[in-house]
Amino acid sequence: MAGTCVVGLQWGDEAKGKIVDLLSGEHQFAVRYNGGANAGHTVVWGNRTFRLSLLPTGVLHPHLQAVIGNGVVVYPPRFVEEVNQLIEGGVRVGDNLVISDHAHVIFPYHLEEEKLIESGGSSNAIGTTGRGIGPCYQDKVSRVYGIRVGDLLKPDFLRERLEFIVPRKNKLIHAFNPSVTPFDPQQVCDQYSAFAEKLRPHVRNTTKLLQDGLNAGKRMLFEAAQGSLLDIDHGTFPYVTSSSTLPSGIWAGSGISTRKIDRIIGVIKAYTSRVGRGPFPTELDDGPDGLGERIRKIGREYGTVTGRPRRVGWLDAVALRYTSTLADVNEVTFMLLDVLSGLDELFICTAYEYRGERTSDFPSDADDLAACKPIYERLVGWHEDISTARAWADLPSNAQRYVERVSELLQLRVSYVSVGPDRAQTIIR
Ligand code: IMP
Repeated sequence: MAGTCVVGLQWGDEAKGKIVDLLSGEHQFAVRYNGGANAGHTVVWGNRTFRLSLLPTGVLHPHLQAVIGNGVVVYPPRFVEEVNQLIEGGVRVGDNLVISDHAHVIFPYHLEEEKLIESGGSSNAIGTTGRGIGPCYQDKVSRVYGIRVGDLLKPDFLRERLEFIVPRKNKLIHAFNPSVTPFDPQQVCDQYSAFAEKLRPHVRNTTKLLQDGLNAGKRMLFEAAQGSLLDIDHGTFPYVTSSSTLPSGIWAGSGISTRKIDRIIGVIKAYTSRVGRGPFPTELDDGPDGLGERIRKIGREYGTVTGRPRRVGWLDAVALRYTSTLADVNEVTFMLLDVLSGLDELFICTAYEYRGERTSDFPSDADDLAACKPIYERLVGWHEDISTARAWADLPSNAQRYVERVSELLQLRVSYVSVGPDRAQTIIR
């Protein structure tokens, strides 16, 4: 047994990066296995703030071997940009960052294809991050148009592939939007061949690297991107991302068996947030002077990747029971508790009313979820500033009660409570 997985139990943005950061000392590998540059994480490191969306958070710790697994989709310009951001910030990036030769590559035509559906207020829009994630995974699964990182390193092969793919993509894009300038296969090839040289020193057979690491007794930290409710199979489809965000994605997305993982940590934000469209029963959609806006402002709930204001709402224990079971978590961590200070009362959704009936099951269908009304349990809030709390006993009793109630509802131990972005603002239980 040699692995830990840190997974968000809501719709993403649960502040997983901080937990990864806290656990880095106990591990030798940090691995991403799903998603791409759609996963914004802000990491406060000393007096510096890094905004990463593609690289594993663990790359900030030079003792860790940071791995972008085969299940990730890679946008080379973003890879280069993030590496440069780190180097400029004084972080060493060399052999400690590797990228799977099997990871699929996002091309400019993927971004354009995504715009065809997402722009212009289409009622079929998902509200994506616009990073080409869905179209790239589509090409991976359809096989014919997929290009992998390893292919970028073979110039003649890459040219041949792009000469076949790009004209077909141009036809497709033109059929939907004739105003888009067609892509030139040669130009795309030259641009990506140049990126390939920047990627080359990092490209490896990461499956073998990870398996060798396991055999040598190294401990791996798997960083799930997005949240469990955005999982392609088990999330609120179609308002989900295109990958397996749950720990089940580790096996396919890295080549490491989930049987090797002995600690699955479910990360919960003290309230709920969601970016993009889709049902959200506990949403606080109460206008510019409402509580929702207050929480958004205090919690700085604006997307790291897109800057979009996040939708916010009360904690939903029905959804959390569903995701904590699916993710098979051993424990949960409670993030951003400080954001809720100053409220007279707090609400936790413990069941839904669906067609006049009470249910504690999370519906299988997104339309049914949209028809659910939350049934709340009311708790008394606290007015103290808790951002300086460093031990459980420093928390006001109403804050303790709130955390304990969620723990009871989920039947799971809370291992960390976070009361601010800084590493020190963490209570270990
Ligand atoms: P995509 O992953 O860009 O295709 O977007 C699909 C859905 O997942 C949209 O609702 C996005 O807002 C959401 N999403 C993708 N990545 C993240 C994330 O890291 N945090 C929160 N939501 C995300």
